[in-house]
Amino acid sequence: MTKIKVGVVGTGFIGPAHIEALRRLPNVEVAALCEVTSELAAAKAAQLGIARSYTFDELLQQEDIQVVHICTPNFLHYSQSKAALLAGKHVVCEKPLAKDLHEAEELVELAAQTGLVNAVHFNLRYYPLARQMKAMQEKGELGEVYSIMGSYLQDWLFYETDYSWRLEPDKSGNSRAIADIGSHLMDIIEYITGLKTVEVFADFNIIHKTRKKPLKPVETYSGKMLQPEDYADIDITTEDHANVLLRFNNGNRGVITVSQVSAGRKNQLKLEIAGSKQTFAWNSEAPNELWIGKRDGNNQVLMRDPSLVHPEVRSIITFPGGHNEGFADTSKQMFKEVYAAVEAGKMPENPTFPTFADGYRELLICEKILESNQKQAWVQV
Ligand SMILES: NC(=O)c1ccc[n+]([C@@H]2O[C@H](COP(=O)([O-])OP(=O)(O)OC[C@H]3O[C@@H](n4cnc5c(N)ncnc54)[C@H](O)[C@@H]3O)[C@@H](O)[C@H]2O)c1
Repeated sequence: MTKIKVGVVGTGFIGPAHIEALRRLPNVEVAALCEVTSELAAAKAAQLGIARSYTFDELLQQEDIQVVHICTPNFLHYSQSKAALLAGKHVVCEKPLAKDLHEAEELVELAAQTGLVNAVHFNLRYYPLARQMKAMQEKGELGEVYSIMGSYLQDWLFYETDYSWRLEPDKSGNSRAIADIGSHLMDIIEYITGLKTVEVFADFNIIHKTRKKPLKPVETYSGKMLQPEDYADIDITTEDHANVLLRFNNGNRGVITVSQVSAGRKNQLKLEIAGSKQTFAWNSEAPNELWIGKRDGNNQVLMRDPSLVHPEVRSIITFPGGHNEGFADTSKQMFKEVYAAVEAGKMPENPTFPTFADGYRELLICEKILESNQKQAWVQV
């Protein structure tokens, strides 16, 4: 079998997660990677067992590389996705697709013109029970959506000494918690319910108004007591915490909370969708169970098991019930669908995976949320 050759750009946290997921697919070979410098690329290639390392421009010149995964900080997604499409590569880009709506719009148009496969890594859709909720909704088992309550909480920016490029708007964009994790939440809500978010009212908060940026790479300090001269005070302009009221196109309402300063919550997306027939409640930190609430009978807990879910969900489950599947499996399941399109050489008419158009949609909602916070008023999407 000739394998589809892939190049991965950026190998910090999520790049290696893409590489691991791709290596679980029989028809794919991670042939090359690219990093911010050639030296780092070579070191990462050796560490990750990848044969070839390149600068970004060199990577695009490799004729045998058919697909490029963009796993770099947000501000690079637009320029790198655009260059990869223009070089004739299929592109899988991390979220958010771009830093602003204009960039995202251009990418959607360019991808359509080229006919190349384009995907945005909204991998949380690929928790099997997220797709089960979608399938149940489509079969009418949820009924009309009455209300939605969602949260996405993390604690990795809890201390004022916690620091990352995500705190700098020129690298991350003008929104942080909403763009970084709220984007997954907004995407999955529309994905499962089929509703459109039509109006938003947002209220942001910055808990740490200044943060301490380490002046050298953090590893330099390991094992040492940090002194005041090791840090610079940086003013923070993006939200640590946000509440957003939502109105949907069926006339009903929802609310979401996102926070990156919620001690003990490592990476928890929670959703509660109340319908006219029953309620779904699901938590990404216990993703193999779906709570189904009833008014007139016993509440239920559905375990992720291929024999218990709807038939159309089985294709994204690999292991039997009780053999838990988690975060790492979501990317594998998503890439399975993306690479079926790559094998076919073009975008399917109705893609099952999240595309650049979905990336655009999510950026549109995020921009309206930002605008609403600035105006402290309802804003139409
Ligand atoms: N879908 C998810 O669940 C998920 C999870 C984490 C991160 N992400 C997204 O992935 C992206 C990367 O996040 P991360 O946490 O891996 O960040 P990170 O800082 O850990 O890694 C980014 C990597 O990109 C490299 N890089 C920077 N500039 C580059 C350049 N010009 N060319 C090549 N490489 C370059 C850096 O050296 C680093 O290795 C972000 O956009 C983030 O939103 C998505």
